[in-house]
Amino acid sequence: MKFDTPPKFPMIDTFRLRIAFGILSLLIVASLTPCLQAAEKVAKNTSSAEAKTSERNEVGDPTEWNWDSPHWPLDPQAFAPVENPQTPQERGYAFLRKKDYLPPDFSEKVLSSLWKRWSEPERSQAEAATEAERRKMIFSRYGLIHDPSQPEQPLGYLSDGKGNWVMSCLACHSGKVAGKPVLGAPNSHYALQTLTEDVTASKVFLRESFSHMDYGALRLPLAQSDGATNAVIFGVAFGRFRDKDLNVVTPTENYPLLHHDVDPPPLWHLQKKSHLYFDGYLPKQHRPLLQFVMLPQNNAETLKGWEEDFRDIQAWIESLQPPPYPGKIDQPLADKGKLLFEQTCADCHGTYGEKETYPNLIVPIEEVGTDRLRLDSLTAEHRSRYEASWIGHYGKYPVRPSPGGYVAPPLDGIWATAPYLHNGSVPTLWHLMNPEERPQLWRRSENGYDREKIGITLESFQAYPDAAKTAKEKRRYFNTRIPGKSAAGHDFPEVLTTEEKWAVIEYLKTL
Ligand code: HEC
Ligand code: HEC
Repeated sequence: MKFDTPPKFPMIDTFRLRIAFGILSLLIVASLTPCLQAAEKVAKNTSSAEAKTSERNEVGDPTEWNWDSPHWPLDPQAFAPVENPQTPQERGYAFLRKKDYLPPDFSEKVLSSLWKRWSEPERSQAEAATEAERRKMIFSRYGLIHDPSQPEQPLGYLSDGKGNWVMSCLACHSGKVAGKPVLGAPNSHYALQTLTEDVTASKVFLRESFSHMDYGALRLPLAQSDGATNAVIFGVAFGRFRDKDLNVVTPTENYPLLHHDVDPPPLWHLQKKSHLYFDGYLPKQHRPLLQFVMLPQNNAETLKGWEEDFRDIQAWIESLQPPPYPGKIDQPLADKGKLLFEQTCADCHGTYGEKETYPNLIVPIEEVGTDRLRLDSLTAEHRSRYEASWIGHYGKYPVRPSPGGYVAPPLDGIWATAPYLHNGSVPTLWHLMNPEERPQLWRRSENGYDREKIGITLESFQAYPDAAKTAKEKRRYFNTRIPGKSAAGHDFPEVLTTEEKWAVIEYLKTL
């Protein structure tokens, strides 16, 4: 890899120092690891009960997904970009799969040796596995999704042609639903923090150079639990280093970064939306989509040169359709649910079917009552800076500097986008409809799908199990007590009886 020197951030004074400390501590950890592993081997014999729990969770529930449907599983070829893209959508998808807008994150050699950084029993299991099995285990551990048209390849990364993997938008924006990859679904298994920590440690062992993500993780938490990311704050942090023409500058403002995780919305909702993001503060257009590639290494000219690509990427996103529910639907019950939905939910979420409406409504935070950290993490100044910059076409697209709440999203394909709410705090539609029943500390299965409650299967806990000692292990659990992760709010379904709630859930399956 080519990154022998740290990327040239316009650094605050302490930054170099922190990097030096970071590298030093990595080296110490690296030199200690063999001793720790020996200790773990001893510990292994004493904690087999805990190991079993972890094993069961890791493998996930068996995929018994053979629902009678012509739509499922999805055609593997649909994941391959076409050879000679002609339409904007085709070009947009080809860009996402083939063009690297960022420097590489890690080499193939690093990727295939990540299992060596695992603790027991997973490390020994990986060691004993065949190469193909081991790759599956690696993908599974970090929420990397197999590309069905090229199963060796992660859907969310592309090859730079020199043996390295480069992150793409699809790392977060394509996920698995009941074990099957779905383009545009949120990747609710992506373990970016844990992946990066293991990548950094592997690079120390393999004497490979660090990249922007390794350095980035020294400055910002990338995620506090597996399955969601601090992506909003990445955007804020990048934005600080730009003037209104996108030139890289030393930041002038120093407002606090309010770290928090969110679960991306499904991309197929974009066609209905007038504004971008959970709080709908930015009018929909292609330039804000460049935010994620605004690493200081990409200068203003480079970014502006990609404008046409991002028009096409937006066109691809807006061409996406939600996957239809592949299981059985109780039609009479769903019809009942439709009426109830139209009385109780449609004012905010719109109507579906023959007469489609979508109000693009922002609901005040006091009314919706869900976690407010995401809303508070962007200041009015930050939002207004976008408006005045190249991103906002120098004022042509006025932002909402203080949106005051969250957008009531469209619910198309809602069966496929668990966990719910902007922070992914609610595992199923049934839990969404029954606020009292929402789990406080829970762990998602990898491939399990709850066909009754509609969403992901989970285990819930009173406290972290003994096996979850390290920060890395704790990240496998969703803890609603962590700031930004509350599962409170959206009590609107409480006006319905239990039976009525089931009818609405049945109807939601049809959207
Ligand atoms: C690290 C994960 C991550 C990556 C990588 C990423 N996104 Fe996102 N994206 C998110 C999250 C999280 C949100 C929701 C942010 C919010 O609303 O505050 C989001 C929001 C969006 C939205 C708005 C959707 C809506 O309904 O409002 C679009 C469009 C989008 N991303 C496109 C892209 C494109 C294009 C790229 C690649 C250049 C990209 N994203 C890369 C995580 C990511
Ligand atoms: C007053 C407006 C309002 C009403 C009424 C309302 N909702 Fe919502 N709903 C919202 C908002 C706002 C959000 C987003 C909250 C967040 O993410 O923090 C939301 C989120 C959701 C989600 C999660 C979406 C996702 O992608 O995670 C579902 C599902 C949902 N609502 C279903 C319903 C149903 C069913 C009803 C009727 C029983 C209903 N809502 C009534 C405003 C409303």
